[in-house]
Amino acid sequence: MSNKLLKGKKGIIFGALDPKSIAWKTAERIHDQGGEMVLTNTPVSIRMGQIDDLVIKTNSLLVPADATSLTDLENLIEKSISHFGSKIDFVLHSIGMSINVRKGKKYTDLNHEWMKKGWDISAVSFHKLIQSLYKKDAMNSWGSIVALTYIAAQRTFPNYNDMADNKAYLESIARSFGYFMGKEKNVRVNTISQSPTLTTAGMGVKGINGFFNYAEKSSPLGNATSEECADYTIMMFSDYTRKVTMQNLFHDGGFSSVGVTQEIIDAIE
Ligand SMILES: NC(=O)c1ccc[n+]([C@@H]2O[C@H](COP(=O)([O-])OP(=O)(O)OC[C@H]3O[C@@H](n4cnc5c(N)ncnc54)[C@H](O)[C@@H]3O)[C@@H](O)[C@H]2O)c1
Repeated sequence: MSNKLLKGKKGIIFGALDPKSIAWKTAERIHDQGGEMVLTNTPVSIRMGQIDDLVIKTNSLLVPADATSLTDLENLIEKSISHFGSKIDFVLHSIGMSINVRKGKKYTDLNHEWMKKGWDISAVSFHKLIQSLYKKDAMNSWGSIVALTYIAAQRTFPNYNDMADNKAYLESIARSFGYFMGKEKNVRVNTISQSPTLTTAGMGVKGINGFFNYAEKSSPLGNATSEECADYTIMMFSDYTRKVTMQNLFHDGGFSSVGVTQEIIDAIE
């Protein structure tokens, strides 16, 4: 269903790799809702993934950028403003990567160089992005910035490894920069904490099927899908959420508020 919630709004979407990506679903929804986009990802992800199909489908501009590079981010913002002929209304940071997770390193035996790289990509890139938008005064008043996160920032999920620490840092950046973006630019900054989802990044986490099924059994409404996450993000980009900022918003079927469900008790008894 489309009620053109984002008609006239323009934004940048990071992180669409393939049709499973949460950012991919979000870009499709934005297009349905009348919004215009610049899509971006790293040159290697553009080569390995399928973003070219999404560019055509959503009639978007593609600008490669490594989100850890200030030069790339500045170029992306300049190209976006020149493409739209106006400032930006919404930005989605849908980026996560841990070399330790990829290589199966246990939390008690981390490679700290890899840890720094994962932290830079998954968390510090959010600060670099917002700081670049801030310095270039690139956002329209009442614009909205969203990053995706996971509940391992608050509770321990052993196999989520150093990504848990990266997500805690990411959520803190949303609050810290949200203050300045709110006060000085009238722009909101939030994180959406999504259910486990079977994407390329999600499937890289050891035991994801166990996570996924446990969360499904523990959530009164069941796991939130990537399409539902896209819908929630659209709402955060719309004018209906103008005073929501500096929040970590759980989008998880109720998982974060549950102690135990009958399904879990039945499964272990
Ligand atoms: N899948 C899940 O279970 C789940 C749950 C909660 C939150 N999230 C978060 O959702 C977001 C999107 O992940 P996804 O599940 O759609 O997986 P995905 O693998 O489709 O997306 C991750 C994206 O990050 C991009 N990326 C990696 N390094 C980058 C860099 N240096 N610069 C720019 N982009 C880079 C990748 O190219 C990829 O497009 C991530 O932040 C992830 O942590 C995922």
